[in-house]
Amino acid sequence: MGLMKRFFAQTRKPEGVLGKIMVNGMNGGHSKLADWGMTHLEGIEAKSIVELGCGGGRNAAELLRRYPDSKLSALDYSEISVKKTQEYNQKAIEDGRCSVHCGNVASLPFKADAFDFATAFETVYFWPGLEDCFSEVFRVLKKGGVFLICNESDGTDETSLKYEKMIDGMKCYTVDQLTQTLRDAGFSSVESDHHPGRPWITVIARK
Ligand SMILES: C[S@@+](CC[C@H](N)C(=O)[O-])C[C@H]1O[C@@H](n2cnc3c(N)ncnc32)[C@H](O)[C@@H]1O
Repeated sequence: MGLMKRFFAQTRKPEGVLGKIMVNGMNGGHSKLADWGMTHLEGIEAKSIVELGCGGGRNAAELLRRYPDSKLSALDYSEISVKKTQEYNQKAIEDGRCSVHCGNVASLPFKADAFDFATAFETVYFWPGLEDCFSEVFRVLKKGGVFLICNESDGTDETSLKYEKMIDGMKCYTVDQLTQTLRDAGFSSVESDHHPGRPWITVIARK
């Protein structure tokens, strides 16, 4: 496998030296998208949050800042991402507001009805068996809880489809595909927004 292909494959599960470089770049590289995604938080109240596929941990920190009365669990199946998220959120961990877990979204290490709010930034492309993973998110959300997905690909843009070909196990979804899969997993209402000038999407589902 060429170096470029091996490097971009790190977005799926950061490992080794290339994975460390990738995770170090994720916080800065995704911040504009994540901040746009977070413009959709109005009306979402949360005391307990789970940040799925947390990468470098910047979005966990931003959610803790925007929800000052909340506690947040961050989760990723890459040990490098877990370590980086712990470093980035050290103060919040010391204050008892943040915990970081190594685990797979396909089998979440949380009790049912545990969270008000679940978030997934730039990660659902890689989730194995999307409907089963969404069912897991549904299980850990309280009734009325909200699931926010934010992707820089709307499933049709050329750049992302190029990455999809390059990265094994990556799938770029359209809003319609995400909406249908969320409904199949049990979510009752699903809303979406598309950035006016970029292929960025936010999909918000309610349990
Ligand atoms: C492209 S990065 C995005 C990281 C971060 N959310 C952001 O926006 O910067 C994708 C992250 O999702 C994680 N991930 C992918 N599939 C996962 C799964 N099935 N379970 C847990 N984490 C997963 C990867 O390890 C990686 O850290």
